Amino acid sequence: MERKANIDLDRLPKHIAIIMDGNGRWAKQQNQPRVFGHKNGVRAVREVSEAAAELGVNYLTLYAFSTENWNRPALEVSALMGLLVETIRKEVSTLMENNIRLNAIGDLSKLPKRTYAALREGMKITSDNDRMTLTLALNYSSRWEITRAAQLIATEVQQGKLTPEDITDQSFSRYLATSDMPDPELLIRTSGELRISNYLLWQIAYSELYFTDKFWPDFRKPDLYDAILDYQNRERRFGKISEQLA
Ligand code: FPP
Repeated sequence: MERKANIDLDRLPKHIAIIMDGNGRWAKQQNQPRVFGHKNGVRAVREVSEAAAELGVNYLTLYAFSTENWNRPALEVSALMGLLVETIRKEVSTLMENNIRLNAIGDLSKLPKRTYAALREGMKITSDNDRMTLTLALNYSSRWEITRAAQLIATEVQQGKLTPEDITDQSFSRYLATSDMPDPELLIRTSGELRISNYLLWQIAYSELYFTDKFWPDFRKPDLYDAILDYQNRERRFGKISEQLA
């Protein structure tokens, strides 16, 4: 409770992005199959979504499946895709009760039909909710997203709708999958790995990075509070010097 009370609600990050890592190792520690870790990761997703919405965070973006994750054993991939369907269907009522909008970024057309359908349905039902947007990055990678943006821009230039001079930092952002969100101020990665793994590379240019050794299935509300408190203790200079900020 104390940790939550110490959070300055006037300086909350509007957008928090999370790389949920360590499900497999968490399961292995208990001599369980990797899928057991993913199943227990769902509880952490629920807790963190609830905690973020309660505090007043506007956007929470979770890395649920990368374009590289297709290379995992087929059984794990299909279990993950099934778990997504099950979780979305089960949690839609909680999303409604909490006024949370479900959103997704990534190359969704390549998802199994069932997963895609459940996702579309969940997004449709929750589309009018406006307390927080919960985005699942699914079949997502930054290089895919940035390459796609370059293709879209090149096509518009070719069609004469855009000139090369029109392409700026701000206008480029509008061609990314996150065009309707602010950049995340805080990026969290669990499980002790110190990598970004092709996640929101453009958007995290000025994000504060927070790494914790906890495996994702063990991540709970107080862990999110710790990350936010750590963020609030940082000095965000955006290239300036300390004295200029005062
Ligand atoms: C990383 O752990 C986790 C994933 C690739 C999948 C995340 C999925 C969930 C938490 C479950 C379903 C999610 C939602 C949004 C309903 P890892 O398998 O890479 O762990 P390891 O590094 O220990 O092997």
